[in-house]
Amino acid sequence: MSTLTKPEAAGTPAGAGDAFLSVRDLRVRFRTEDGIVKAVNELNFDLEAGKTLGIVGESGSGKSVSNLAVMGLHNPRNTTIEGSIKLEGQELIGLPQRDLEKLRGNKMAMIFQDSLAALSPYYTIGRQIAEPFMKHTGANKKEGRERAIEMLAKVGIPQPDKRVDSYPHEFSGGMRQRAMIAMSLVCNPKLLIADEPTTALDVTVQAQIVDLLKDLQQEFGTSIIFITHDLGVIREIADDVLVMYAGRAVERGTMREILKTPQHPYGWGLLSSIPRINASVDIPLRPIPGSPPSLLNPPSGCAFNPRCEFREQVTGDKCRTERPALEEANGHLSACHLTPAQKQSILTEQILPRLSS
Ligand SMILES: Nc1ncnc2c1ncn2[C@@H]1O[C@H](COP(=O)(O)OP(=O)(O)OP(=O)(O)O)[C@@H](O)[C@H]1O
Ligand SMILES: [Mg+2]
Repeated sequence: MSTLTKPEAAGTPAGAGDAFLSVRDLRVRFRTEDGIVKAVNELNFDLEAGKTLGIVGESGSGKSVSNLAVMGLHNPRNTTIEGSIKLEGQELIGLPQRDLEKLRGNKMAMIFQDSLAALSPYYTIGRQIAEPFMKHTGANKKEGRERAIEMLAKVGIPQPDKRVDSYPHEFSGGMRQRAMIAMSLVCNPKLLIADEPTTALDVTVQAQIVDLLKDLQQEFGTSIIFITHDLGVIREIADDVLVMYAGRAVERGTMREILKTPQHPYGWGLLSSIPRINASVDIPLRPIPGSPPSLLNPPSGCAFNPRCEFREQVTGDKCRTERPALEEANGHLSACHLTPAQKQSILTEQILPRLSS
């Protein structure tokens, strides 16, 4: 069953269903010297307990910003967050920082994009893993250290009883990412947000980290949001996928639907940019021409229209003037003015042959 909400359900009270995490009409704005950055707009998604939602999109599409909002990590002085984020029915937007702090590290945890920046260089790995455990459980230092060693062993660090006393710079990138996973899972959070945890790693280590997360998910029943640029990684881990572009959802569906029958020109572009199955990892990727728009002053209509090679097939000037709604087309949700029949024929006659050539 899809863990995603159909658009007609988007207006129903959040948490009315049984979603573990339910995000409704999320908007995140930053006040900057240059104006208001509309980083996330009218975003809706659900995540079921024990499942993995992959969020994919180019740099600047709002993946981190939307998930930092879930974690309550934005600076309220320059950020406005509107909408609803419910975790097991509890509204997180507007929750006092003290309450959010109690949830962070305990019920929900995040693995950050840059492990070196996220770990303090001044404290041992063991201390940094033990700290949230001691804070949330009241364990003493000895128990904290034992727990850190146990977690390092779980994430596959050799000689954990020795490495517990290492500093972050003494770990390789892959080991630091494992340590970050240990730190985020030390209190058995129900929700784990992994923000591009494998991007900086080489392909073999990437695969090991993805396997590790899947194993830990099995063991702890964790619900995961996995953020990545890379549809290839999504294929390995996600049950459902949300594709973001310029701060909006442009496509949502099951992993199979998004990878096999994407319905949005941006999704087609992403698909063309991943290595083929059985191909060498060195195969040159086909990046999407052009660059993402400024979120200070996004294009009118569909934000993807300046880069879209199919916009001329839409009647009138709709792509430039009217924002497409996220609607069902050929099995899942996409936000594009092409008709379902046009999408289907472009996919089968142009996109799929391109991929096999
Ligand atoms: N604190 C901030 N103040 C102003 N603008 C911000 C702030 N944080 C993020 N942004 C802007 O919000 C937009 C979305 O950023 P976000 O970090 O969510 O992108 P992303 O999809 O995670 O990209 P990446 O793949 O590079 O990590 C970007 O245009 C970014 O410049
Ligand atoms: Mg990011």
